[in-house]
Amino acid sequence: MKLLVTGGAGFIGANFVFYMLEHHPEDKIVCLDALTYAGNLETLAPVMEHENFRFVRGDVADRETVFNLFEEEGFDVVVNFAAESHVDRSIEDPGIFLRTNILGTQVLMDASRKYGVSRYHQVGTDEVYGDLPLDRPDLFFTEDMPITASSPYSASKASADLLVMAYHRTYGLPVTISRCSNNYGPYQFPEKLIPLMIANALADKDLPVYGTGENVRDWLYVEDHCRAIDLILREGRVGEVYNIGGHNEKTNLDVVRTILKQLGKPESLITFVGDRKGHDLRYAIDPAKIHSELGWLPQTRFDDGIRRTIDWYLDNESWWKNIMSGDYQQYYERMYGNR
Ligand code: NAD
Ligand code: DAU
Repeated sequence: MKLLVTGGAGFIGANFVFYMLEHHPEDKIVCLDALTYAGNLETLAPVMEHENFRFVRGDVADRETVFNLFEEEGFDVVVNFAAESHVDRSIEDPGIFLRTNILGTQVLMDASRKYGVSRYHQVGTDEVYGDLPLDRPDLFFTEDMPITASSPYSASKASADLLVMAYHRTYGLPVTISRCSNNYGPYQFPEKLIPLMIANALADKDLPVYGTGENVRDWLYVEDHCRAIDLILREGRVGEVYNIGGHNEKTNLDVVRTILKQLGKPESLITFVGDRKGHDLRYAIDPAKIHSELGWLPQTRFDDGIRRTIDWYLDNESWWKNIMSGDYQQYYERMYGNR
């Protein structure tokens, strides 16, 4: 099988490339990535010379690049991870989110139609279900819930999902969509909660917690997400949406306190800052469908996953320190300077 993996130089895409090369050594993977601020070729260094891997730098919204690559490679399967992925950045500047996340999806699907693929898989997010109230722990996101969105990021992902289902119905494109909860693990860009808090704690810097810190996220170790996508590609039903999550809800404060405890740092580093605009209260996935249809369950408990993640950041300081120097400093100042 020949796969196009877009956004493979980012956090989840890179973990997916590693997972697939390890578990399906017979498959060939071509990674298309624009190497935005979030893409990092250093991450892919261990597989750059792999005989079944090819990296191509390019923009998913650039029709000529994408169509030429499809013509040249003849893909069986497309897995679209490429996206602008950070909610705070989308609040600051929505335009690029619409271009990459919506128009990029359209271009990839147009190429998939023209050249014919057996599957187009869209990597979606649970944020397209909006949020749940904090005082209703009995409520969960199911696949048949209406789509809604709180941020320009989630609106762009929701638009992409609608377009994917429309291409299936209108043109018969063989699609699947997965909607996953918050991922954590190695190679996550240190603008996201967990790696940011690890990096700041290690530097004895303030840990900026938005609002009250009571917002809840449903954390999933990235490898469990990769395994779920692999299963959907091989055994999932065309035209279906699969939610991915592991009933692992934590308040942001719980997560931050766990990190501080494991690093032996004081809770006095926690600093409450102005809330995110439109901040979603609670995400919580009901994974019953993927469990009953495909037998998927998460394998990594949060205690183990967070320990492995912290150890990874301790062992790979140069990876994230390189990222955090330069342009990222300006981003940090813009985002947190006057908060
Ligand atoms: P990321 O920001 O770490 O990586 C995104 C990658 O896409 C980067 O390598 C970047 O260079 C690339 N990219 C961006 N614009 C591009 C373009 N125009 N053309 C080609 N490549 C481009 O993101 P992530 O956290 O790995 O998320 C990957 C996907 O999973 C996204 O679609 C995101 O919406 C989805 N998702 C993420 C999470 C999470 O918790 N991180 C959860 C559910 C779903
Ligand atoms: O649910 C899936 C989504 O999870 C993905 O679709 C997104 O791509 C991914 O970025 C993530 O979105 P969140 O907004 O939930 O993740 P983030 O790490 O940005 O924030 C997690 C929570 O922590 C959220 O409630 C905001 C809060 N937070 C975040 C940062 C960066 C803080 O309190 N302080 C911070 O500095």
